[in-house]
Amino acid sequence: MSALFYPMKIGNVEIPNRFVNSATHECMAKETGEISDDLIKRYERLARGGVGLIITGLMSVHPSGRAYKYQTAIHHDRMIPGLKRLVDAVHQAGGRIAFQLAHGGRQTTKAMIGQTPLAPSSRGRDPINFVKPKEMTQADIMEVVKAFGTASKRAVEAGADAIQLHGAHGYLISEFLSPFFNIRKDSWGGSDENRFRFLKEIYQEIKKVVPASFPVLIKLNTNDYTPKEGITPPLAAAYSGWMAELGINALEVSCGATNYSYMNMCRGDVPTAELVKGLSWWKKPIGHLMIGKLEGKYDLAEGYNLEAAKLIKPVIGDTPLMLVGGLRTVSHMEYVLENNYADFISMSRPFIREPFLVNKIKEGKLDKVSCVSCNRCLAAVPNEIPVYCYNKSQILR
Ligand SMILES: Cc1cc2nc3c(=O)[nH]c(=O)nc-3n(C[C@H](O)[C@H](O)[C@H](O)COP(=O)(O)O)c2cc1C
Repeated sequence: MSALFYPMKIGNVEIPNRFVNSATHECMAKETGEISDDLIKRYERLARGGVGLIITGLMSVHPSGRAYKYQTAIHHDRMIPGLKRLVDAVHQAGGRIAFQLAHGGRQTTKAMIGQTPLAPSSRGRDPINFVKPKEMTQADIMEVVKAFGTASKRAVEAGADAIQLHGAHGYLISEFLSPFFNIRKDSWGGSDENRFRFLKEIYQEIKKVVPASFPVLIKLNTNDYTPKEGITPPLAAAYSGWMAELGINALEVSCGATNYSYMNMCRGDVPTAELVKGLSWWKKPIGHLMIGKLEGKYDLAEGYNLEAAKLIKPVIGDTPLMLVGGLRTVSHMEYVLENNYADFISMSRPFIREPFLVNKIKEGKLDKVSCVSCNRCLAAVPNEIPVYCYNKSQILR
């Protein structure tokens, strides 16, 4: 049997194969943050398609942490019935689902959250939203730490199989971890240990309020690709080791996607016209110029986070490692598992295009996914339209 189809446990939850749907913002929730029928359909289909573990798109734990208009929210008890409906649908379809919990930090706008975006430090203007964030006070920090705890409790009440903390891509947790975004001089910054403190306190708060056996996962950046040094692979390895010591149940490694380097996260084509369409009229000319310059610079290399994962795997012991980013051929996925570079194969864009991918691989019907990383699905996000595959070429089976 292929290494891809050996079951493995994450905490107490048995995952029947090694495929993970990496968190993918759907742009499908209602404007209130509540779950919609389309969103349920998306995950039901993925569960029927055989994905071992589905991780949802980022859910906002606090009103100040909302990053997108049609983003799912988990900041209030009124969200629980909808979230439960989502979990029940996935379970009935035979799947397992983890909620990704996030705070958008500086990567949002005043219009979205009704206040100046929050960040560890008020460093520079965001290159996309042009907002200068507010440096968080001690009270702001503790409020967000608590919010992650109460959101986790809601995930348990809704019946989720696990949660994943979004500690990547330039949102609040990764901002605290990054020496580029976090230039504080108090006990929340100034050293790697202090920059790690925010994540550590969030993790400890969550462990206080969820059942001991409830799995808590994390997605971390291995490289921020910020203009000055942020998170690098060695620093990511140190943070990963500390998370393993704390008892995290699985770790996923990604990169980029801070607003300074969003194409690193999703390498492949740069769909300038589609990305620019979503900008306000006054940003369009500069957008064309800036985004156009990126074309041809982010060609996809198979498994582009593998080298960083190789640094991390030895320091996390038995903690399962999920690798994401450009995994496209079945033989390469098997190579990653057989060499023990990672334990799970995590994908986003291929599942947007082919929700039934895993079953097809299991049946030996394909040796390569048909996603060509055109990134039109990614461009749906700034355009605030549902995330589907907008590449009309025929799916190869
Ligand atoms: C449309 C879209 C939305 C995404 N939303 C999220 C998200 O909510 N949370 C997250 O951690 N990563 C998000 N990602 C990143 C993916 O999880 C993944 O790390 C990245 O696409 C690379 O994997 P791939 O090559 O398999 O697509 C998103 C990617 C895309 C294309």
